[in-house]
Amino acid sequence: MDLAELEAAINKVRGLAKEQMQQLEDDLRQAKLESVGELRRRLDEWRVSHLGKKSQLQQVSRQMSDLSKEERPKLGSLVNQTKAELEAQHDRLEERLSALFRQQQFASETLDITLPGRRHPLGSVHPITRIIGEIEDVFLGMGYEIVEGTEIETDEYNFEKLNLPKDHPARDMQDTFYITEELLLRTQTSAMQVRTMERMKGKVPVRVIAPGRVYRRDEDDATHSHAFNQIEGLVVDEGIRMSDLKGTLELFARAIFGPDQEVRRLPSFFPFTEPSAEVDVRCTVCGGAGCRVCKETGWIEILGAGMVHPNVLEFAGYDSKKVSGFAFGLGPERVAMLKYGIEDIRLLYQNDLRLLSQFAR
Ligand code: DAH
Repeated sequence: MDLAELEAAINKVRGLAKEQMQQLEDDLRQAKLESVGELRRRLDEWRVSHLGKKSQLQQVSRQMSDLSKEERPKLGSLVNQTKAELEAQHDRLEERLSALFRQQQFASETLDITLPGRRHPLGSVHPITRIIGEIEDVFLGMGYEIVEGTEIETDEYNFEKLNLPKDHPARDMQDTFYITEELLLRTQTSAMQVRTMERMKGKVPVRVIAPGRVYRRDEDDATHSHAFNQIEGLVVDEGIRMSDLKGTLELFARAIFGPDQEVRRLPSFFPFTEPSAEVDVRCTVCGGAGCRVCKETGWIEILGAGMVHPNVLEFAGYDSKKVSGFAFGLGPERVAMLKYGIEDIRLLYQNDLRLLSQFAR
């Protein structure tokens, strides 16, 4: 082939390459992000067929040896110019493809932060835990200390040192789960009275509350459970009088139930207090008209109380001629039922979410 033929061949190749490139560019203009990979592959093919070792351009330039010395540089420069042109086109398209590729990557990695979060259900404090906390706060505010005992007690602390010797008839008021002759499940937090006074070794003032679970062999019904909570209170000091007890309990009732709650005190009997009293509040379930919660009386007993019996002070190492005290034992479940209008104590132990969720804040 002579120079003219070779030049023509090169121009033909160049024309074809440009045509294909034009097609690629058109396709790229309309390309969706997903077709980036496909266009890349076609661009690679284009490069191999027009700029690779087996390309026609390469084949034509190999025939340069057929030309004369004067003709060779002419063809050489045409080949070089064509190559440069094609390479430039390739690189331009490559760059645009890369940009599109990056765009595609960004798009696929985007986080939509406007999507609303998923709500996780929040638990709530159990109504018994909540009422115990509220009652504790009232007494902490009056300078009481919180003490805790064990649910397994000895007969001695649960009964004997509370002025309830083994054959005392008042033991019948508290049907007891015995573990052995001497060990039992405590029937009352009053067991903490003597334990606390012994720990204080005759010092005054003693001012504690003792919350905890107690056990009795009772049939479960709307107002009774074989396992329930009590909060014991004990104050011992010089000159403590019944009016101190009265004031304390009035303050407690007002703090928990509000100023308008009707409260009454009745004389009662407990072996470890003398005199003894009980405190009733108006039944909030029926408003006093009478219902099964208040056993048709219109009142619910929420605590027993009294002046600490001299025997109990003496058993605990205190001189009953120098100091005196008052004690009370209140039922948080009863308080919760009244305050939240819960008609059956068993609802407090069943952990039914329909009840518990009403206490979520
Ligand atoms: N422990 C008594 C009971 O469970 C309640 C009680 C009454 C506690 C009078 C006291 C008290 O501290 O002084 O029935």
